[in-house]
Amino acid sequence: MTKNKLQRFEENLSFPNLFQPSYDDLLEKPFSLKGKWRTDFFKNNHPIVLELACGKGEYTVGLAKRHPNVNFIGIDRQGARVWRGCKTSNDENLVNVAFLRTQIQYIDLLFAKDEVDEIWITFPDPQPKKSKLKRRLTSQNMLERYAKVLKPDGIVHLKTDSVFFTDFTLEVIEENKHLLQFCTHDLYHEYPDMEVASIQTFYEQIWLNQGLKIHYLKFQLHPSMFK
Ligand SMILES: C[S@@+](CC[C@H](N)C(=O)[O-])C[C@H]1O[C@@H](n2cnc3c(N)ncnc32)[C@H](O)[C@@H]1O
Repeated sequence: MTKNKLQRFEENLSFPNLFQPSYDDLLEKPFSLKGKWRTDFFKNNHPIVLELACGKGEYTVGLAKRHPNVNFIGIDRQGARVWRGCKTSNDENLVNVAFLRTQIQYIDLLFAKDEVDEIWITFPDPQPKKSKLKRRLTSQNMLERYAKVLKPDGIVHLKTDSVFFTDFTLEVIEENKHLLQFCTHDLYHEYPDMEVASIQTFYEQIWLNQGLKIHYLKFQLHPSMFK
């Protein structure tokens, strides 16, 4: 492991807005902020928006600056990446930002039913192998987990460069009768003025430099998933 990475892991321990629960921790006792993010951490009654696979947390931080009356939480399993978002949010005193370094699969151990207002999924690994289908972050399997914490009218946003992943997601939406609210296969040419076009992530910049088009979808889960 590089010295830089070790330093970041060390510094991660000092950030007051970073939580790093292990699966064992979560199994042993309920996560202390589950159902209490607003009262015990943010100390307000504002909506909660998650960024899944947040990496360095560009959306978490970028949206938090634009929307001070909304709470944003980035989730990623890689400590050296979430370090970036933690560092920026602490340096800039952003009180509406938190990060979780953990597996997205544990989402229902981290949040209570209806605690989450919106979910962003930014440039997830496409996981093209069929054996990894359930791990794709927009598989029906994962959407079922999100439904355990998302409000019934909650919105899921997906931003990706991957045609494969976009097509897969559109199939999941159609097969399961989720409600597609918006879809573009070329965000920056078709809708350059939308807010979603005003923030670029680390990976996104790589794909944009390679000339790839960026897809953006917005959908709601079928009401039957919330019963
Ligand atoms: C391609 S990167 C995108 C990162 C960032 N959103 C960006 O656009 O720069 C995918 C990220 O998803 C994270 N990731 C993938 N599967 C995950 C899981 N099951 N739980 C937590 N993080 C996951 C990886 O650690 C990685 O940082």
